[in-house]
Amino acid sequence: MNVKKWSEPYGGELVNLLVDDERAAVLRELAQSLPDITLNDRQLCDLELLATGAFSPLKGFLNKADYEGVLDRMRLQDDRIWPIPICLDVPETLSRHLEAGQSVCLRDPEGFLLAILHIEDIWAVEREKEARQIYRTLDRSHPGVRYLFDGGGECYLGGRLEVVSLPLHFDFRQQRITPLELRRIYAKLGWNRIVGFQTRNPIHRPQFEMTLLAMREAKANLLLLPIIGMTKPGDFDHYTRARSYKAACSHYPPDSYILNLLPLATRMAGPREAIWHAIIARNFGCTHFIFGRDHASPGLDGKNEPFYAYDEARKTAQDFSGDIGIIPVVFEEIVYLPFEDEYRPVDQVVEGTQTIALTGTDIRERVRSGRNVPDWATFPDVLGELRRSYPTPKKQGVTIFLTGLSGAGKSTIARILYSKFLEMGDRPVTLLDGDIVRQNLSSELGFSKEHRDINVKRIGFVASEITKNRGVAICAPIAPYEATRAQIRSLIETYGGFVEVHVATPIEECERRDRKGMYAKARAGLIKGFTGVDDPYEKPGNPEIRIDTTTLSPDEAAQEVLLFLGQKGYI
Ligand code: PPS
Repeated sequence: MNVKKWSEPYGGELVNLLVDDERAAVLRELAQSLPDITLNDRQLCDLELLATGAFSPLKGFLNKADYEGVLDRMRLQDDRIWPIPICLDVPETLSRHLEAGQSVCLRDPEGFLLAILHIEDIWAVEREKEARQIYRTLDRSHPGVRYLFDGGGECYLGGRLEVVSLPLHFDFRQQRITPLELRRIYAKLGWNRIVGFQTRNPIHRPQFEMTLLAMREAKANLLLLPIIGMTKPGDFDHYTRARSYKAACSHYPPDSYILNLLPLATRMAGPREAIWHAIIARNFGCTHFIFGRDHASPGLDGKNEPFYAYDEARKTAQDFSGDIGIIPVVFEEIVYLPFEDEYRPVDQVVEGTQTIALTGTDIRERVRSGRNVPDWATFPDVLGELRRSYPTPKKQGVTIFLTGLSGAGKSTIARILYSKFLEMGDRPVTLLDGDIVRQNLSSELGFSKEHRDINVKRIGFVASEITKNRGVAICAPIAPYEATRAQIRSLIETYGGFVEVHVATPIEECERRDRKGMYAKARAGLIKGFTGVDDPYEKPGNPEIRIDTTTLSPDEAAQEVLLFLGQKGYI
């Protein structure tokens, strides 16, 4: 491929959807008479990258024909490759009041006007088809599939956008650079060849060495594009990562790199995602792009199998790099040679040479569990940043989430745990028992699926705030739905520990105890939709602890939880 200068945008023209001041004033006026849509975090990320041209040539959310082309052929109507549907999902109840030809206001959660969408099409999300075509799985443990089925709206709106304001950010402003601004910086610095590196993990030594090798191979400067929009649940939070990127960057030669934080909402779609990343990099002016091992993979599925074959994303992206107009820079895993004190791609290591490696996941686990991370694996200043946000488990916050049938013993165990934590006295502790919450936080709610989900999500939100601030939250709702519990887990694991305790006392025993006399009422038909009687309880598939209290005293059951917490270093 012939590379002249920093790359032309994908599609030839760098899209800029931000209107000038005059048009913005007109649109603000118009906005007063238009319906509003409040964007969620993912939609805010999409809007920002559409607005600044990072998704060039897209000029708005995909219309129906483009959506179908992307699903079926991975192409837009004009035949250009585009792998990921960038669509605006809304609840079906909202879409009923809208029609094609109409315009709507897109606002941030505080009500600030961001853009006007001129609707071209409204259609029902083809959830199963989209999951199969884009993610090649229906497994809800895939974050993209989970959003599609459990997080996103039922309908899509497609159409052209006029953007009045970019979503507001108050953090790391100097590292938030648009494609247009970057191109001006390249011109000023006289950069011709730029190799892009995108990641959602901290930059440890192997990634750092890989970028140096790539710069040498491509004779290029480096554009670091770490993703700080939405990444995989459980990743280090973006503030911590951004600080760690700045620390890692201090090890590059001066003026050899630019750090630009990318507000991308990842879909973790493996091969399709890798192509998408390359397109984005091209729009940021990259001439070359590094495809690492297992690029954009969400890891293992519910059956412990990889969602995408190892190397598949990289191969697919290489196949399409000609269409995208970017030169792939491809590396095998980088390993450390302890005797030589050197890093090398594993395929360049002479047979019989000793090598060691720690993956990003290994390092994350070590940080989270307070274990040592050697200097060869990551720079001490990068590690320092990670440790600052993620102290050892003993100093982290933790949520103990007891779930089970009414009468299973949750509240009693929770109360004992609460006392024990108060006795230890080294962290603030809060008890969020089902009854307490229903009196204080959720007094207006009943027991429909919808209301139970709201109730349990409220508990999860409060527990996440407590965990974030390094306290202990002990929760004891029935929480009958697995998907809701999984959402809470992923929210809380961003900030600290989450220990799910399934109090698995069988219904016969709960009913035999019937301390509140509710089972008797439920059997007599006086209470409708009682969990375990005529309402479902989905058993946790993989809790940290499962306790049947039939033959255990409450103290013994609480002891099991405390021993587990001790083993994991939380106490
Ligand atoms: S949920 O499903 O998590 O929102 O339930 P939760 O907030 O934990 O509330 C459960 C307590 O409410 C009483 N109760 C019912 N439980 C289940 N189903 C129905 N229909 C119902 N109506 C009232 C019940 O006593 C539960 O108390 P616990 O402490 O679990 O025994």
